[in-house]
Amino acid sequence: VFDHVVMGPEDPILGVTVAYNKDPSPVKMNLGVGAYRTEEGKPLVLNVVRRAEQMLVNDSSRVKEYLPIVGLADFNKLSAKLILGADSPAVQENRVTTVQCLSGTGSLRVGAEFLARHYHQHTILIPQPTWGNHPKVFGLAGLSVKTYRYYDPSTRGLDFEGLMEDLGSAPSGAIVLFHACAHNPTGVDPTAQQWEQIRQLARSKALLPFFDSAYQGFASGNLDTDAQSVRMFVKDGGECIVAQSFAKNMGLYGERVGALSIVCRNADVAGRVESQLKLVIRPMYSNPPIHGASIVATVLKDRNMFQEWTVELKAMADRIINMRTQLFDALRSRGTPGDWSHIIKQIGMFTFTGLNSKQVAFMTKEYHIYMTSDGRISMAGLSSRTVPHLADAIHAAVTR
Ligand code: LMR
Repeated sequence: VFDHVVMGPEDPILGVTVAYNKDPSPVKMNLGVGAYRTEEGKPLVLNVVRRAEQMLVNDSSRVKEYLPIVGLADFNKLSAKLILGADSPAVQENRVTTVQCLSGTGSLRVGAEFLARHYHQHTILIPQPTWGNHPKVFGLAGLSVKTYRYYDPSTRGLDFEGLMEDLGSAPSGAIVLFHACAHNPTGVDPTAQQWEQIRQLARSKALLPFFDSAYQGFASGNLDTDAQSVRMFVKDGGECIVAQSFAKNMGLYGERVGALSIVCRNADVAGRVESQLKLVIRPMYSNPPIHGASIVATVLKDRNMFQEWTVELKAMADRIINMRTQLFDALRSRGTPGDWSHIIKQIGMFTFTGLNSKQVAFMTKEYHIYMTSDGRISMAGLSSRTVPHLADAIHAAVTR
């Protein structure tokens, strides 16, 4: 009965890792998926995470019962405070409902399913380009996905005029997806002044902001600074939605821990919204896993552990910045044609190199360097040892 099933394509991002794993070359490099690596090229478990896990293991009162449908209460409260601010009036007025979800993707999907059922406008505008999974998550939830201009290839920066024009002509009430910080794949964010203009326009057109916050702490190295865009929108008293991931900033990729927060007009609405989120979640996966959320809650609620986390997070962000400088210098010293200053200007985990799919294919074939075909490289996968090989490959790709 399944004979007719055709082979589906690999995922454009996770499929890069599949191809990388099959390559026997000793010099191969995986710069596809956005996952942090140490200078030695190894995955990193933060010390503070190890410590939290040890505490959880030693606590014999802990059991493996089901969590509530909405997840771990402490985790939800602390996650909302982390993104909205400890002193956020919205949190204090109990008008934020937060549910624990399966990392960023799960949070986006639960939010999208809720909107498809309970929000009057089904059009969502997503930036062009954006993370490859966004259109699928929203489209499969039943929303109608459109794009707004975001990136200008000629300047390798923000197309602010295009963005404002497209949001200005969006249907009233449309949902708009924003990357809270460290835009994936471009590494290009609006400035604080531009965010303010975006906010005014969005509010004047009653657009509903939906933030994807997957890199809090990775853009500036500071958790509060990286939450400014979201906080601006919450401060004006209007509604907004935030999907948070702890995959990158706490290195909890495989634990699948994230949160969806919906900021409502008042506590009464928030209570009803939560009741409906439960009806979305229960038939999908019943309730979320306990381990990752317990780690996050342990770290967030202890002042010392929180402090330790910020230091480790900053160290990851700094190492990436250092890789940017090294790659930029390596290309300059090779005299590679082109202006590569965007490598040091862009922020977050990725550099949107400007290399085209043919050049990417060449680098994979000849240099065993794996990256997404849109020319995005994960700077977190680079090390001082591997920068020269990458620079050689880029040089060869643009001069052939
Ligand atoms: C990425 O863009 O590489 C990450 O968000 C990982 C993923 O799930 O695609």
